[in-house]
Amino acid sequence: MKRIRLGVNIDHVATVRNARGETYPSPLRAAILAEKNGADSVTIHLREDRRHINEFDLKKIIKKLKIPLNLEIAATQEMLKIASRSKPPFICIVPEKRKEITTEGGLNLDYNTNFLKKLIKKLKKNKSRISLFIEPSLKDIEKAKKLDVDCVEIHTGKLCNLINKKKNYKNELNKIQKVVHKGNYFGLEVHAGHGLTYSSAKILSKIKGIQEFNIGHFLVGESIFDGMPLTIKKFKKILKS
Ligand code: PXP
Repeated sequence: MKRIRLGVNIDHVATVRNARGETYPSPLRAAILAEKNGADSVTIHLREDRRHINEFDLKKIIKKLKIPLNLEIAATQEMLKIASRSKPPFICIVPEKRKEITTEGGLNLDYNTNFLKKLIKKLKKNKSRISLFIEPSLKDIEKAKKLDVDCVEIHTGKLCNLINKKKNYKNELNKIQKVVHKGNYFGLEVHAGHGLTYSSAKILSKIKGIQEFNIGHFLVGESIFDGMPLTIKKFKKILKS
């Protein structure tokens, strides 16, 4: 069985730093530590309001990291400019609302579609791998295919909430499974992310056809207790089984 790749999202290392307006803890140090401990990629989300990661982090991390950096951006002119300049190996386009606590859902692929097409075309010229963060919806995966991206990342927030609340998650899991199969059928790489914990990652890893998990908040939280090396090790074990 093929191992699922682990993308480590380090946004919340920057959240802790920014809470005190300090220079530590360092997201660069976290990125290098993740790399040393077996992460397959490192993810950062450069938000419009720069509430965690900023451009200085982006510059430093992209310079030092040997594994691929996955830059999450909203579909805006500003982010197009930044991504064109920094040329990260991986880019994931995400929706963004200023007041949300975290990314609340997948992209609305019927909105701003012409700009989205232009953005994808331009960023692909830099040889970046382009992914779209979408809801687990068959319609959306068809739309993503038409937009000529390399991958989609399925928003797993709803599934993870149901699992955390010990509610019935079977319908949501089935929905995700169908979308994964359709994505694979279309030749898209399928990723998953948002809200993943040890238990939800374990459940989701049983679905065949997901190539990458992107995990942040829970992983950074667990690192407080167990340290990042052990936390990554635990996730890698789940993704291997
Ligand atoms: N994938 C995407 C596209 C995201 O926007 C986020 C949150 O920034 C994640 C994965 C990681 O989610 P979490 O921090 O809940 O693990």
